[in-house]
Amino acid sequence: MEKIVILTGAGISAESGLGTFRDEGGLWAQHRIEDVATPEGFARDPALVHQFYNARRMQAAKAQPNAAHTALARLQKDFTGEVVIVTQNVDSLHEASGAERVIHMHGTLAGALCRACNHRWASPPEMAVGEPCPACAAPTARPDVVWFGEMPYHMDAIYDHLSQATLFAAIGTSGQVYPAAAFVHEALQSGARTVELNLEPSTGASSFDKVILGPATETVPRWVNGFFSPR
Ligand code: APR
Repeated sequence: MEKIVILTGAGISAESGLGTFRDEGGLWAQHRIEDVATPEGFARDPALVHQFYNARRMQAAKAQPNAAHTALARLQKDFTGEVVIVTQNVDSLHEASGAERVIHMHGTLAGALCRACNHRWASPPEMAVGEPCPACAAPTARPDVVWFGEMPYHMDAIYDHLSQATLFAAIGTSGQVYPAAAFVHEALQSGARTVELNLEPSTGASSFDKVILGPATETVPRWVNGFFSPR
């Protein structure tokens, strides 16, 4: 049975109006990573970090899934094999498009995390400095997103899926952030076919068997249709 493991990145949500990180004018051109996306930055200036994620949370809440998200949800629902979606994105657009099983390796804007007891709960639209944890009451709430220098979530499960993959697809990711950037090598080692769908060749494009270039809303629905059209 075919087992497709799909890794998505910011590029899949770009046409929903959510900015990517490393494209021209992207988030990392406007903000310093060390200020807003590291544990040290949060310790130094939690208000600035909350401001950054509050703004992203608000923007993400207004965004609608696009044709690429919808196509992947259809693939997951209707394909005869297994389809695992692993996303680096902290938006919830895969879920909003109907995908039921999504692994958020970099966490989610929808979540809050207590630094004291690791309790997780649904984030309010705006988080404030010193917000108390509903479980232990410590004033240590942070966004439940993975920052630079932290271990991404669900890695054991992801490597398990990659070890059984027959096809691996990377969609809308620049291939510059590890460990996700190395998933293609894990998949190749498992004997999977590999395909990249991206606006332009990613840093790791030469590692893939096939590269399909173009905007995700065009390339992904066409690629998904290929699984359903008679051969
Ligand atoms: N369709 C397809 N691909 C697109 C589109 C589009 N409409 N728009 C942009 N892209 C591509 C870009 O060419 C780029 O290669 O999406 C990629 C986005 O790359 P990044 O901005 O680096 O985003 P991503 O790879 O998801 O970043 C990984 O870095 O800072 C961290 O935690 C953050 O999860 C993020 C991680």
